[in-house]
Amino acid sequence: MSPPAVLATTKAEFAALRAGLSAGPVVLVPTMGALHRGHRVLLRRAREIAGGSGTVVVTVFVNPLQFGAGEDFGRYPRTLGADLAICAEERVAAVFAPSPQEMYPSPPMIRVDPGPVGQLLEGHSRPGFFTGVLTIVLKLFEVVRPDVAVFGQKDAQQLALVRQMAADLDLGVEVAGVPIVRDPDGLAVSSRNAYLSPAERSTALALSRGLSAGAEAAPSGPPAVLAAARAVLDRAAAAEPPLVLDYLELVDPVTFTQAGDGYEGQALLLVAARCGATRLIDNTPVELGGDRGGTPCC
Ligand code: PAJ
Repeated sequence: MSPPAVLATTKAEFAALRAGLSAGPVVLVPTMGALHRGHRVLLRRAREIAGGSGTVVVTVFVNPLQFGAGEDFGRYPRTLGADLAICAEERVAAVFAPSPQEMYPSPPMIRVDPGPVGQLLEGHSRPGFFTGVLTIVLKLFEVVRPDVAVFGQKDAQQLALVRQMAADLDLGVEVAGVPIVRDPDGLAVSSRNAYLSPAERSTALALSRGLSAGAEAAPSGPPAVLAAARAVLDRAAAAEPPLVLDYLELVDPVTFTQAGDGYEGQALLLVAARCGATRLIDNTPVELGGDRGGTPCC
């Protein structure tokens, strides 16, 4: 059996623990807990990066600053006991799981401005979301002082913004990305999948199916990608229970601005939709350009 991960719930406790870590790299995986198979893949990647001499640290914190009014802050799953067991299995050395009061003794007057990319897509649908995310990630970086931090491509815009913040603010933290982990039926694994009824889950499969249909249409160009994805999502919009589309966009993966008709190179096809009371997001890379209209080769 693996030794348990040491739990710190205050910044002072974590600082004491941090001072005793081995000299190797400290690799951080920030999470909101309710750890699942997707998080496990991040923990394994972190373990690989840490190597024999390094340490993996996980933070578990449901960050009130990134939830809007009427979102699921109150009902977000909190499963610290099970999270600690998963961390032990994945050879995590330390878990920092503070209370909201510990992280925000008072509402922070200084917050991170996520810039133009932070206003688009998720930032447009969830005003203040990326300010909340980047503010807590910066604070967690300050407490944990990692060499590397690992984030999932599942939240592609979040990953891009954290990378940008690390570069623009000279944080000295390397940001590593991990591809999306999916269930066998294609649904991207998420803590919020637990909210879905079986019928809602069946409707929600249109997200990954729409993205696959879009990616397959890549040789025919951006409008065909969007049309193929939209056809699948439109069918799900007429299903019972229906899928309510928030956005479907094909974007440049750095600026998150729309990949127009003549766009060539790597793009991201992103979707957000609601099924019942649950909001889901998903994305896939799409390689555009070259052989328009031909059969995909190689
Ligand atoms: P959370 O939703 O718990 O996700 C923690 C990390 O796990 C994120 O980097 C996310 O992209 C990654 N992840 C979740 N599901 C995944 C999947 N199916 N495949 C690959 N990676 C996946 O994202 C957050 O928490 C918060 O916003 C946080 C960064 C912790 C700041 O509060």
